Amino acid sequence: MGVVWKGHHLSLDMPVAIKVVRALDLNDPLKHRERLRREAQMAARLNHPGIVRVLDFMEEGNQPCLVMELVEGSTLDAYLRTRGSFPERTALLMAFHLAGGLAAAHEAGILHRDIKPANILIANDGTLKISDLGLARPLADSSLTDHRNVMGTPLYMAPELFTRACEPDPRCDLYSLGVVLYQLMTGAAPFGGTTAQVIHGHLHLTPDMTKIPASSRHILARLLDKEPRLRIGSARELREMLRARVLEIDALARPGNPSRSGSQARIHGSDSRLIERLEKTLSSESIADGKTIVHTTGRERVLVGILLGALMAIGLVSWLLTR
Ligand SMILES: Nc1ncnc2c1ncn2[C@@H]1O[C@H](COP(=O)(O)OP(=O)(O)OP(=O)(O)O)[C@@H](O)[C@H]1O
Ligand SMILES: [Mg+2]
Repeated sequence: MGVVWKGHHLSLDMPVAIKVVRALDLNDPLKHRERLRREAQMAARLNHPGIVRVLDFMEEGNQPCLVMELVEGSTLDAYLRTRGSFPERTALLMAFHLAGGLAAAHEAGILHRDIKPANILIANDGTLKISDLGLARPLADSSLTDHRNVMGTPLYMAPELFTRACEPDPRCDLYSLGVVLYQLMTGAAPFGGTTAQVIHGHLHLTPDMTKIPASSRHILARLLDKEPRLRIGSARELREMLRARVLEIDALARPGNPSRSGSQARIHGSDSRLIERLEKTLSSESIADGKTIVHTTGRERVLVGILLGALMAIGLVSWLLTR
């Protein structure tokens, strides 16, 4: 869609990312710029930790430019290309976080329209951020036009986008997030090959679920359903399903549970330090209703026990002295 520069916002005195957007609708560049401006204005109203913040929109020599928060790190795409997949819990946690960002956008009336690993940034501190919100597709008309062919990879596109002139719908984003989750768990998108083979896969083939841990298959099956009406209804609902699944894994992994499973086994090739950072950062977001999951170590639990014991002893001694 354009070129992204690292820059410095002089009046705010902060580093920023500046995206110089290529004119996509060459027949009507004015209309295109106006549409980008409106979408940038909508995106700028969103303030969610899972979405790259839009700070400004300007035109430089007739070229629309979007000024965003600078996310130091890498794209999920770069990670997946070089390091492969993630353990099940990390992948679910990542999708949980992304579903939170997507829910905030959808509830504000903004569709993403191009969810894919290249538009997901992993910050160095382990935060995940969705970028290019609402800006990725220049045309309201969802039919498969030349523009769409030229600009998008079909790997992540919902099947209905290839066959019908339908209104853009949040469920298209959910399908794309399903493809991303599939890739997080297996290292590859469900349908590969030439463009024609990928489109054929989206339209007619059932994704191979053998590499997906059995207890997460129902979530993927409902995200990747060919029929939009049978898909998970909203990003918020998806978030709840992912939350439930992560809590289930945590309950199984508790010491003393006889069915403690190997679902968190490290997948060969993945970067354990990055995974630790992701798990730490993403788990610190409230995942259990009203409760934050805190991963305590055995040593921390012993220390808390000693502290509580000491407090009780002090209380008892002072009660005895005052009698
Ligand atoms: N806010 C940001 N902070 C830091 N880096 C960014 C930011 N936005 C984009 N980038 C970097 O710029 C690169 C190019 O982004 P860009 O969105 O133009 O390309 P893309 O997502 O690969 O393709 P598309 O043109 O379909 O959006 C990204 O891969 C990422 O490395
Ligand atoms: Mg992008």
